[in-house]
Amino acid sequence: MLRKAKIAVFVSGGGTNLQALIDAEKSGIIKSGTLSLVVSNNEDAYALTRAQNAGIKTAVVSKKALGSQAAFEEGLVSVLSENKIDLIILAGFMCILSENFTKRFPKRIINVHPSLIPSFCGKGFYGLRVHEAAIEYGVKVTGATVHFVNEIPDGGEIILQKAVEIQETDTPETLQKRVMQEAEWLLLPRAAEMVSAEIVK
Ligand code: GAR
Repeated sequence: MLRKAKIAVFVSGGGTNLQALIDAEKSGIIKSGTLSLVVSNNEDAYALTRAQNAGIKTAVVSKKALGSQAAFEEGLVSVLSENKIDLIILAGFMCILSENFTKRFPKRIINVHPSLIPSFCGKGFYGLRVHEAAIEYGVKVTGATVHFVNEIPDGGEIILQKAVEIQETDTPETLQKRVMQEAEWLLLPRAAEMVSAEIVK
């Protein structure tokens, strides 16, 4: 193989999906890409500790500190170009990116979302809220989706999906955990490899 795609993972919180990516690179599931940078909008994100433990370079780009969406996105673009990043993975990144940002990276940003898109997605559907909505609606099957990111929140082309059954006793918390274990942590590394392989082809 000539080269590997350089991957940046954007995070905001606990980083279990980042951990799944780290483990997948170690085990060889991700072989066409390498995790080169972890970027958080939140300096207290535990995901940053996971990155440091794995020896991956980290950066914090804070919208609050930079003052505007435009300055925030410029900060992200600078750190990406400094590190010559080929692929951006949103793994629990709780900020919306504007068209101004997404159009610079066509088919080079992927996101994991904890539902079967087009259900329970778009503005306002993130984290536990997605699972609360699925339980409240009474759907019997939910799941996770990995998709390309464009200017429409959760609206880009779907790469992979996996269904997960909802049990009668589920709370948003138990459902979130099962969707992660049975779907997100498997799909995201597989999609990262698929897209990286395409980039280095
Ligand atoms: C994950 O369930 C991810 O799918 C979701 O937030 C959680 C982050 O967990 N993302 C979204 O809702 C984005 N719309 P993690 O920090 O442990 O990976």
